Amino acid sequence: MKRALVIGFPIAQSRSPLLHGFWLKQYCIEGSYEREEVQPEAVANFLRTLPARGILGCNVTVPNKEAAFAACDITTERARALGAVNTIWFEQDVMWGDNTDGPGFVAHLDQVHADWDRNAPRILILGAGGAARGLVLPLLDRNPELIAFSNRSSERVERLVDDVRHARPGAPVEIVDWAAKAGALGRFDLVINTTSAGMLGKEALDLPLNAARSGTIIADIVYVPLETPLLAEARQLGLKTLDGLGMLLHQAAPGFEKWFGHRPEVSAELRAHIVSNLPTR
Ligand code: ATR
Repeated sequence: MKRALVIGFPIAQSRSPLLHGFWLKQYCIEGSYEREEVQPEAVANFLRTLPARGILGCNVTVPNKEAAFAACDITTERARALGAVNTIWFEQDVMWGDNTDGPGFVAHLDQVHADWDRNAPRILILGAGGAARGLVLPLLDRNPELIAFSNRSSERVERLVDDVRHARPGAPVEIVDWAAKAGALGRFDLVINTTSAGMLGKEALDLPLNAARSGTIIADIVYVPLETPLLAEARQLGLKTLDGLGMLLHQAAPGFEKWFGHRPEVSAELRAHIVSNLPTR
């Protein structure tokens, strides 16, 4: 029986077992996908025990992504750019790590708005934390005309843009002042909220969308609630939208394929299964 895990601290809230469990059943694979609570200090040792336990690999969630990165023998370029991994597998006894969050976002974008990158899009990313960083390389790979970043604290966004310029000299990146972001919306084709504003129980993102052009895609990586206040306003204004759940579903696919040997489909049925298990309050 093929086995994989998700590790984090705490881990009870992880939806990964639900979605991998759905695929295992759908493809009639004899396998298991479980959750284990592991503290960040214990991650390196824990990961080394996996092959002896017959476990093929794992997903890693907060706050363990950096510790897992440090423990890997080999990491992908996009994981190194972040210093964080969310997917681990073994080749012989070599431990590999990748970060599939950013590619998961882009795969969802391709699925829902297939022509989004037809004319070198102009992209605005709100936020400068780990989630924003994860999007940079996968989006740059699609040759945008511009990626602009805007963040509440300017110091953090300046550091992010410096890091991007270092990793990709000549990359078309700039900063939009946090106070100027609403007025700047008309310049962008894709706007992505990577801040935690709008999450269930938190204040909404303060971003009126009146200045956005028709045809602009408003994306949120928050998925509880599935329709954040930002996405609700975008819908009411007739703008295109992209919710955060698709990124969660698509980031899981590469790990599933590595461990269980089948490239899974992110289908409407899978989505409905996860949606029916999301908290509503
Ligand atoms: P993650 O790894 O998910 O990106 P993070 O590293 O804690 O999480 O980053 C959270 C991001 O959300 C940051 O950009 C943060 O802005 P600051 O750098 O100014 O703290 C942003 N954020 C959180 N709450 C916010 C709010 N209410 N309004 C605007 N930005 C917010």
